[in-house]
Amino acid sequence: DTAAPLVLVSNRGPVTFEDDGSMSRGTGGLVTALTGLASHRDAVWIASAMTPADAKRAQEAGGRPIDIRTPTGGEYQVKLVASDAEAYDGFYNIVANPMLWFIQHYLWDLSNAPDIRRHEIDAFDYGYRVVNEDLARAVIEEIDGREHPVVMVHDYHFYLLPALVRAARPDVFLHHFVHIPWTQSDAWRVLPNRLREEVFRGILANDIVGFHTRSYRRNFLQCCEDLMGLEVDHEAGVVRYEDREVWVRAYPLPIDARATLQVARSARVRQFETELLRRRRDHLILRVDRADLSKNVLRGFSAFDLFLEQHPEFAEKVTFVAQLMPSRTDVPEYAEYLERIEALVAVVNHRHGTPDWMPIQLKLRDDLEEAVAAYKHYDVLLVNAMFDGMNLVAKEGPLVNERGGVSILSENTGAHEELGEFALSVNPFDIQELADAIHSALTMGEGRRAERLDGLKAIVTERDPGDWIDEQLADIRKKAGVDLGPP
Ligand code: G6P
Repeated sequence: DTAAPLVLVSNRGPVTFEDDGSMSRGTGGLVTALTGLASHRDAVWIASAMTPADAKRAQEAGGRPIDIRTPTGGEYQVKLVASDAEAYDGFYNIVANPMLWFIQHYLWDLSNAPDIRRHEIDAFDYGYRVVNEDLARAVIEEIDGREHPVVMVHDYHFYLLPALVRAARPDVFLHHFVHIPWTQSDAWRVLPNRLREEVFRGILANDIVGFHTRSYRRNFLQCCEDLMGLEVDHEAGVVRYEDREVWVRAYPLPIDARATLQVARSARVRQFETELLRRRRDHLILRVDRADLSKNVLRGFSAFDLFLEQHPEFAEKVTFVAQLMPSRTDVPEYAEYLERIEALVAVVNHRHGTPDWMPIQLKLRDDLEEAVAAYKHYDVLLVNAMFDGMNLVAKEGPLVNERGGVSILSENTGAHEELGEFALSVNPFDIQELADAIHSALTMGEGRRAERLDGLKAIVTERDPGDWIDEQLADIRKKAGVDLGPP
């Protein structure tokens, strides 16, 4: 086998273990696509042990990779790295979320920054750097003695790792995909200089840096110029850094349409549909999100509130189903956000509800089948994120929708670059515009609804996650001259 060895790195791995030793698989197109890649090549997937059961399983494996079988009979290897608990807490709950997450979604509260900063700096040192070092060590060990290794790193958890790996192995090929927005250079100025420089030096140790959109690519190139004083070719997407060239590219992530349509046909989805149809009113508005501040859930409910106030003719005729998955609840900002969501839902339901009509149905759970059942029957899909790297709900919803459902889509989502033409675009901060969009969507004629939905369906089925990976492998081959073997 002449294919180069491949190492994948992500914080959340493709599998997690439970206390009873059983294993659950991550869902979603990204995990599926990378699993496909890992099982077809000489590959190891390195991830953090995120739960005590993960750490126990990692310890049992004695630092060796664990063999995992894919549902389709393939096999690949996962290495879970357990970091010190306090270090991991600082890494995940203070630096990655909220600090980097907030900076990269323009959510940083500048009025509170001086207070938070000491806390963040410390956690960067005892947490973020340490976990990056732990996984870097695992990568270096994995590629030891191997020629032409390729390492594909995922996301904002590992900005320091590439430089650490490069220092040990100058010959390595490093490809880093960032799944969240890359904000404009001034947004990065809240990071203390030392930290900011370390982040940029870390990520510039890569050979290729990939983003979902051209706009994040542009922002990253601009940051290299503004904040690091580097020579940048904006057109070609190249940064010159320490005698090397870093290629900066956009690879928008597609959904796995085939897998999603298969879920849509499952018995469990049908059960949820029956329940949903039994209770449905004339119109259904749907949102499906992680309960994350960036998703702009509160403004979505405020807009619905305003809509009901301005259009009383819709009373008792429309239900807003909000399926929100609690997320990162150890981060105080997230826990508080959930409380504010529940409080606002209570206010709106109290203001407009009647004895047999509850305007907003809040479902705080992570259930893919329940979400897919609702995708099939919405009239309006609301995706009003303040900022969002891609947003796959905006792609999955239209794919399975059977009712000529209209998408209301924030212009600040990555998905908007691809889907904007066939959605009702909104400025997510403008609550009146959002309320008006809800009204337009609910009163739009059948022909126009169908036309838009067909347009969306065509776009989201054009490419699949396998294509997304192939586009990146092609660039790796082009830049490195390394053969990764047949896909
Ligand atoms: C979202 C982002 C991903 C990120 C993930 C982490 O899905 O789009 O880029 O990796 O959150 O979520 P977690 O639950 O692992 O904190």
